[in-house]
Amino acid sequence: MITDEDTCYLDGNSLGRLPLATIGVVNDYLHNEWGSQMVSGWNSWIDEAQSTGDLIGRATLGVEPGQMLAVDTTSVNFYQLCHAAITARPGQHKVISDTANFPTDRYILEGLCQELGCELVLINDEDGEEYVTPEMLAPYLDDDVALVTFSVIQYRSGALHDIARISQMTRDTGALCVWDASHAVGVVPMQLDRDNAGLAIGCTYKYGNAGPGSPGWLYVSKSLQQELHVPIQGWFAQDDQFAMAQGFDRSPTIRGFQIASPSIIGLRCVQASFKMIERAGLTAIAKKAATGTEMMLALHDAWLAPLGCSVITPRDANRRGGHITIRHPEARRMSQALRQFANVIVDFREPDCIRVAMSPLPTGYVEIWEGFARIRELIKTRKYEDVVESDSRVT
Ligand SMILES: Cc1ncc(COP(=O)(O)O)c(C=O)c1O
Repeated sequence: MITDEDTCYLDGNSLGRLPLATIGVVNDYLHNEWGSQMVSGWNSWIDEAQSTGDLIGRATLGVEPGQMLAVDTTSVNFYQLCHAAITARPGQHKVISDTANFPTDRYILEGLCQELGCELVLINDEDGEEYVTPEMLAPYLDDDVALVTFSVIQYRSGALHDIARISQMTRDTGALCVWDASHAVGVVPMQLDRDNAGLAIGCTYKYGNAGPGSPGWLYVSKSLQQELHVPIQGWFAQDDQFAMAQGFDRSPTIRGFQIASPSIIGLRCVQASFKMIERAGLTAIAKKAATGTEMMLALHDAWLAPLGCSVITPRDANRRGGHITIRHPEARRMSQALRQFANVIVDFREPDCIRVAMSPLPTGYVEIWEGFARIRELIKTRKYEDVVESDSRVT
């Protein structure tokens, strides 16, 4: 839904726009399901975490049914799967990730390592493109490693990791991999089954356009479902859930990884937007992202580089997703000034980065062109010096 034609919304990598269809879907759910069916609605709602997960898996991840859940939040799912992976490798005590990984992942790993007596090894990739190549990873892998975990697309630089090779190297050392696909889902075609990725989690509110705080998802490949156990044993994981019996008897299916009642309103938002992604097709979506990011890089080089900007995102379209990241010493003030004076919405990331995105379903090429023209004007005229700095905690 576009309420202001003048806005250049280049922040779909943070929060996707509202699809018009979602309004109808939610309205219909409220009136014709919750409102009229009340508790009887659960007869048809009870397994929606699985069916919605299957939709996400089919439309975006190359995942066969029965291996996905759309539930909880990215952070909760990350904790659950990393805990399950580490405890499935008793006697192996190292966890490997990288310094440029998203903060929630690093913080959760820190806590998990304290809890489970592991050593957290963070590969320092904060120079340059913030990207761990298989060659960089190789010297860290030995038979003491239990878990390797990276983001598919780096939240700041936008660099894309090599899922297939890193998953393979990790398996070869006897460890497990957890992929955080939050910045990739809905914009980068993935083949998690084919690449034997094992475990992955992600959100639905970025390129998924499912709304602020919409349900996250998790992927556990069939080959790991019996071996792995998540730490929170909720009643949705109980094999015969409504027997309400004593003692936990875990479901042998993907439901064995579900904790609790899913948010049905949230799942309807996910269904509305991921059906659109499925209809458009991820190949076409990724092609538009590649063209859009190429265009942003060209506009940066022509207009912004001469004004003191630089880019940390890989130049190779096969190694990035939907956003590029521009560095400038005044990035913080520029990001706020763009909203206040130019109606251009981007976001700021410490220490000096502005992220600018092509979210292929809602973002147009003209919007990008116009947005970059306004960024150029703001820097040229130093209008960012007039900004009234916001006291919001959110950047
Ligand atoms: C890569 C990545 N992982 C995890 C999260 C955390 O998501 P949530 O707050 O939904 O748990 C985010 C949020 O933006 C993210 O970008």
